[in-house]
Amino acid sequence: MKKILLLAGVLILAGVAIALLFVRPCMPAVPDDAKLAGKSVADFPQTASRSFDAMDSRLSLSDDEVKGRNTWLLWTAGDQTLWDYLAQHGLGTADLLKAIDSRQRPSRFKDMGLVNQPGMAQAAQPDEYGLWLDIGAQEDGVDAAVYGRPTGIMGLRLYPNPKFDAAARARWDANRYYSDTNYYNDPKLVRPYVVGMACGFCHISFNPAKPPDDPENPRWENLSSTIGNQYLKASSFFASKAAPDSFAFQVLHSWAPGTIDTSFLATDNLNNPSNMNPIYAVPARLTVAHEEEIAGGALNFPGEQRRMAVPHVLKDGADSVGLIGALSRVYVSIG
Ligand code: HEC
Repeated sequence: MKKILLLAGVLILAGVAIALLFVRPCMPAVPDDAKLAGKSVADFPQTASRSFDAMDSRLSLSDDEVKGRNTWLLWTAGDQTLWDYLAQHGLGTADLLKAIDSRQRPSRFKDMGLVNQPGMAQAAQPDEYGLWLDIGAQEDGVDAAVYGRPTGIMGLRLYPNPKFDAAARARWDANRYYSDTNYYNDPKLVRPYVVGMACGFCHISFNPAKPPDDPENPRWENLSSTIGNQYLKASSFFASKAAPDSFAFQVLHSWAPGTIDTSFLATDNLNNPSNMNPIYAVPARLTVAHEEEIAGGALNFPGEQRRMAVPHVLKDGADSVGLIGALSRVYVSIG
């Protein structure tokens, strides 16, 4: 009897595995929420806003260069959909809406290594949904429909949640969201806002040539876009509500301050955090990059090139599987 059960089990597993092999390629692509809302590229113009000119030691930039930096600082490319999914299914982890709680503004740097957005302030009262959100943003020329609102933390942007309908509104209870595990861990709970992550979230930190007098209240001139946030405490930020005996808490807790395992949602099965290093000398690195042959599964990625100059960005030279392959490994940073 036992043998028959075992055999049946093996056959079922093999059947499921084979079925998955055939089903997976036929699965419909996940619809892009911007396309679902009928938007096109024209709805997301770049901004040449000069609101951030005091950063990076007042580096003089052309309008095009400013657009590039603004993209780095502000553009979340729809990754708020990923972060919202993780908040709904993460059992207390990755709930960015909770992590931006304005009551924590005075100690965000000390507790989580976060960089507060200059010019903003702690909220004196909750908003219309009972949520505590930083106030007082001044970003001339930054369209909230494209880039969301600033959350008060550099690199995190706030958008209305398109799924927050009348039923979700009727069910919404901010007090329970902040305090009741059963309520906020429900994967069906629809939050009023979604929070997106721009590249700058991990890459912006204090300019070592002009460090802030008070790290909880930096000014624009104290910030560098590319120095890398060597202070970020991933477990305090991503897993503030996870139980200490949970797997998620323990994994995140093993990461030293200033490190992230950018490929930890990919299937490399490695816990491999590394630091957000400064990005520098990119043109020089490109000039010494050797052409390499890209081979194997990496070529299955649409748009992957067969030969490319590999500048070995990323400490492990991850781009030696090609640019698209390297980007596809890092869901956490690229969303
Ligand atoms: C969640 C944190 C995080 C976010 C968000 C993030 N990065 Fe990074 N980034 C890192 C880490 C960590 C490294 C270093 C990884 C390594 O070397 O293995 C890194 C390294 C890099 C490097 C290589 C630097 C070098 O000198 O080799 C580039 C380029 C880069 N990131 C670009 C981006 C872009 C573009 C985005 C947005 C689309 C982005 N990053 C968003 C964490 C992040």
